[in-house]
Amino acid sequence: MSTNLVHDLQDEEDMIANPMLTHSYVVKRVQQETYDTFTLELEPKNKTQAFSFAPGQFNMLYVFGVGEVPISISGDPSKPETLLHTTRAVGTVTNAMRKLRRGDLVGVRGPFGTSWPVEEAKGHDVVIVTGGIGLPPLRPSVYRLLSKKQEYGKLVLLYGARTPEDIVYGQEIEQWRKRSDIAVDVTVDRATGQWRGNVGVVTTLIPKATFDPAKTMAMIVGPEIMMRFTIAELQRRGLRDESIYISMERNMKCGFGFCGHCQFGPFFVCKDGPVFRYDRVKPFFGKGEI
Ligand SMILES: Cc1cc2nc3c(=O)[nH]c(=O)nc-3n(C[C@H](O)[C@H](O)[C@H](O)COP(=O)(O)OP(=O)(O)OC[C@H]3O[C@@H](n4cnc5c(N)ncnc54)[C@H](O)[C@@H]3O)c2cc1C
Ligand code: FES
Repeated sequence: MSTNLVHDLQDEEDMIANPMLTHSYVVKRVQQETYDTFTLELEPKNKTQAFSFAPGQFNMLYVFGVGEVPISISGDPSKPETLLHTTRAVGTVTNAMRKLRRGDLVGVRGPFGTSWPVEEAKGHDVVIVTGGIGLPPLRPSVYRLLSKKQEYGKLVLLYGARTPEDIVYGQEIEQWRKRSDIAVDVTVDRATGQWRGNVGVVTTLIPKATFDPAKTMAMIVGPEIMMRFTIAELQRRGLRDESIYISMERNMKCGFGFCGHCQFGPFFVCKDGPVFRYDRVKPFFGKGEI
């Protein structure tokens, strides 16, 4: 992106003062999650500054000479020194990103956007429903909720993937499954190999999940059609629109409400989202690129 200035990270104020500044980060580790999905662990080239973010926020990641894309921050917000992004390679920039190796440089701008209502959810049951590459934007919330479990009611994570091979963070999901403080259920659209678990779309897990709809908040990430069916199923269980939060995707350029690329009704997804309370976007939701 030619308008970017490439800078070493000097301090956080610098980042906030000029959100167009791209800061150089070094790839510390690459973790292959599935055949097309990988996690980059990044550290600032100038190591003096820690990076803080809220669950649900994203960064603009710049693959030098190729382009810049929005990618959610997928690590633990209580460990901001470990900056993680999990990306599925789908096109020009993300395929170039997948070729990065330890020691390579990436440009980072952010963090941008709104966050999951982890404070407002205190005292509530929390149901997280997501599919495929929708889990990375929600993983920081899972970490936050589990770290303060005594402040919440029941925690439920419902996760769907196309096939067992598409499940991201498989080992970590297995560890969460063994815990008594979160109920985890996983399903795949199509069983392959040794899969002996649920088969069907993620919404089929909702009727059997245990939570109190009157005091539940829901957090959903997935393709818009998946979110639409998930919202309908949660409403059938008795959740109100005001208790449902979704994360939206739109094409982005600036990331902070300047260029208008990510317009969604009266909102900019980069600034007013990506996390929205459902009742606020309901009139525009599911209406394509409006
Ligand atoms: C706020 C926000 C957070 C995001 N967080 C993540 C994240 O954590 N991890 C992640 O992997 N992605 C995330 N995305 C999506 C990511 O930004 C896009 O996949 C990326 O911009 C694609 O750029 P590209 O140059 O690789 O593909 P392009 O060359 O622009 O697109 C190539 C082809 O892929 C299709 N395509 C584009 N995006 C997607 C997609 N998301 N899924 C399937 N097909 C697609 C296009 O329609 C096109 O046909 C996020 C998007 C937003 C707005
Ligand atoms: S990406 Fe520029 S306004 Fe949202």
